[in-house]
Amino acid sequence: MLNHSIRYFQNELYCDDIPVQSITAEVGTPVYIYSLKRVLANLSRIREAFAAVQPHIHYSAKANANLAILRTLVNAGAGIDAVSAGEIHKALLVGTKPEDIVFAGVGKTRDELRYALEQNVGWFNVENSLELQYINDLVAELKREPARVALRLNPDITAATHRYIATGHKAAKFGLSIQTVKEILKKRSQFPHLKIEGIHIHIGSQLHNTAATRRAVQVVLECLAPYPEIRTVNIGGGMAVRYAEDEDIPRWEDFGAAIAPLLKDYQVILEPGRSLVADAGLMAVTVLYFKEQGGEPILITDGSMAELIRPALYEAHHEIVPVNKSPSPDTYLNFHVVGPVCESADALGHNVSLAQMEPGALLAVLTAGAYGMVMASNYNQRLRPPEVVVAEDGASWKLARRRETWEDLTLTEIY
Ligand SMILES: Cc1ncc(COP(=O)(O)O)c(C=O)c1O
Repeated sequence: MLNHSIRYFQNELYCDDIPVQSITAEVGTPVYIYSLKRVLANLSRIREAFAAVQPHIHYSAKANANLAILRTLVNAGAGIDAVSAGEIHKALLVGTKPEDIVFAGVGKTRDELRYALEQNVGWFNVENSLELQYINDLVAELKREPARVALRLNPDITAATHRYIATGHKAAKFGLSIQTVKEILKKRSQFPHLKIEGIHIHIGSQLHNTAATRRAVQVVLECLAPYPEIRTVNIGGGMAVRYAEDEDIPRWEDFGAAIAPLLKDYQVILEPGRSLVADAGLMAVTVLYFKEQGGEPILITDGSMAELIRPALYEAHHEIVPVNKSPSPDTYLNFHVVGPVCESADALGHNVSLAQMEPGALLAVLTAGAYGMVMASNYNQRLRPPEVVVAEDGASWKLARRRETWEDLTLTEIY
């Protein structure tokens, strides 16, 4: 989706002040391009939307863990929500203060917990009773100050989103049941090396209504009612972004308004991922071939599910637009835009309305800044693409990750 940063000027696609084609001419395709200006604008919009509760914002690094993105957000005052020791490592590398890191995740290993304790991360979002015991024991073993914990509650609420990214229903693998949370809170004195100071929820990503989040917060408050000393509620991420013009999603202000009256006496933590970075990014690809199969027009590009798996994985929709618009196209066709990977699922989009594209033409897959490059793989022994960031003032760009080489492909193999 186009916005103030990813926009056309005289029929040419720009990322802020930089023509996309001037970047692809130097670094080739496929390539991810991110607007840091847009990332920061999104951060400001989220702060405004939740101003009533003055939240601590921990950027969910899983959405896009490029160091330039992490550094930009951390320099702007965000903390980090990490789900692995690797994400903690990257957060520390860009100068995140350890106390501004939240360590979440359904299956943290003991080694990861030890590392996080040694690094003094600020919060452990705990999802398992045994994990709680592990942290307690590791703190004792390492002779550390008690670790600060939020219990991740599974509120048994089904979020309105794709089933692969709904996380708050009873049978989901995420969180602790309401009953378990209540039991842990009752016996919390059995964990002398822990400070249970908060409850965490995250009912899903790309949430299509605010009512479910509000109900989840009400469940949290019910659990916390007997414990007035517990003052922090982490409501996770999940705020939706528009992938298509007609997608009906709540505004971020609506999320803020839905929870603010309930949480005004609490310290609120937010873990936005997608909402900060999705619409700040695009993936540029080159058309390689045209083909008609069974009467359907197909554009084969050099970008594939190996670089952007969301369409194949979730049947996710991304707008696909030409980098150079032809000023007066004769006809539009509804293309399948596919990649070279040997899977029928390998498509970037279907029913994409475009003028006929010649081989060599550039396309941009929009709203690709979140859950794009982080999920890229070497499937079919493809080289993972470079990432480019356009600077905060919009006037210059730099390579933030180079394209992989054949050497990178075999670097970790032993033969
Ligand atoms: C615990 C937790 N917090 C935050 C997020 C970020 O969600 P989103 O990118 O939808 O904002 C996720 C995503 O899965 C998550 O699992």
